[in-house]
Amino acid sequence: MITLALSKGRIFDETLPLLKAAGIEVLDDPDQTRKLILATNQPEVRVVLVRATDVPTYVQYGGADLGITGLDTLIEHGSDGLYQPLDLQIAKCRVSVAVREGYDYAAAVRQGARLRVATKYVAIAREFFAAKGVHVDLIKLYGSMELAPLTGLADAIVDLVSTGNTLKANHLVEVERIMDISSRLVVNQAALKLKREPIRKIIDAFGKALGQP
Ligand code: PRP
Repeated sequence: MITLALSKGRIFDETLPLLKAAGIEVLDDPDQTRKLILATNQPEVRVVLVRATDVPTYVQYGGADLGITGLDTLIEHGSDGLYQPLDLQIAKCRVSVAVREGYDYAAAVRQGARLRVATKYVAIAREFFAAKGVHVDLIKLYGSMELAPLTGLADAIVDLVSTGNTLKANHLVEVERIMDISSRLVVNQAALKLKREPIRKIIDAFGKALGQP
């Protein structure tokens, strides 16, 4: 049995065409079922639905053989024990620094004062500001980061930006782009050895669908 870990939403939806290219069709719609293990048209392949931040954990410890996860999640989790053969070029967005409209970010950074930064992406934020030589106090949040500068919890946030609509709706502006994000295929290294042939077949089919040799 080959187990693929996916999260519901954009990653799941954008993975379906790649699975199709590998001859795999998921038999249930995750929005219509409460099931967490989804069968496919291939009896030897199943999909498990997990929280996006749990995908690397499932694959690292062998709860799934393969998984698809954003680069943001992968950096925060660390990539120990994970083989990363492909950038799938799906679920693209960016990680950026944003502040309240009218907040003088350039001055705050220049003055060498400590900046209070709220984020779910603590590792990415820590490394980015350390490389700039800016002192930051990081405040870990699990969602609704946009609220932090509006309530005085933080001066800035580090968050995912896609269309920019969420920032705009909350009167925030993007002041620095930290990195571009896309989803990656991750594979459990032991599974790659033990189930080499079926896993290789999937990796190769995904690669071919992406136009890679
Ligand atoms: C992300 C991010 C922003 C939003 C940005 O949240 O945290 O809130 O998307 O998208 P936009 O630029 O197109 O408006 P997501 O919906 O992934 O959920 P999350 O808050 O659980 O991370």
